[in-house]
Amino acid sequence: MHAFAVDPSLSPEAFYAELLSAADALTEGEPDGIANMANVAALIWQLVPDLNWAGFYRRMGDELVLGPFCGKPACIRIPLGRGVCGTAAATGATQRVPDVHAFPGHIACDAASRSELVVPLMRADQVVAVLDLDSPTPHRFTPADQAGFERLAALIVTRTLAACVDLGEVSC
Ligand code: SME
Repeated sequence: MHAFAVDPSLSPEAFYAELLSAADALTEGEPDGIANMANVAALIWQLVPDLNWAGFYRRMGDELVLGPFCGKPACIRIPLGRGVCGTAAATGATQRVPDVHAFPGHIACDAASRSELVVPLMRADQVVAVLDLDSPTPHRFTPADQAGFERLAALIVTRTLAACVDLGEVSC
């Protein structure tokens, strides 16, 4: 339905500008956050090379719950503070992990994963979800990848609000 293509010879900055522009076009005007997360996961999967998993975990109280993704079936619930995703959610800080085997408590949903980037989606200083990217290649994610996905996360959080219902705590 949507044919997005990005020139692989682009600089990282230009590549992420294109990715952001495609994500913006895909989600603009759509109020359903789950639909938007699903399309953004598919977009990342289509355009970003050397990944074996790309998707979202949503924060539900004191745990993360699996959201839309591309890749192999994954762990469904992750307590805050556990693994790379739970650490990103507990601290509100991006986790760029060059070697997942060296990360204490890494949760191996797919044994093929060797490096990982997890970016929190923040709303009003609260983590409402995380964007998780796994690669079979060690040291796959550069500071430029981190900066690009942090910009993408800031866009996505503005397009997922309808999936978040406040029940006296952060819930998405
Ligand atoms: N590796 C993650 C778990 C999620 S999967 O990679 C999809 C972690 O350590 O939190």
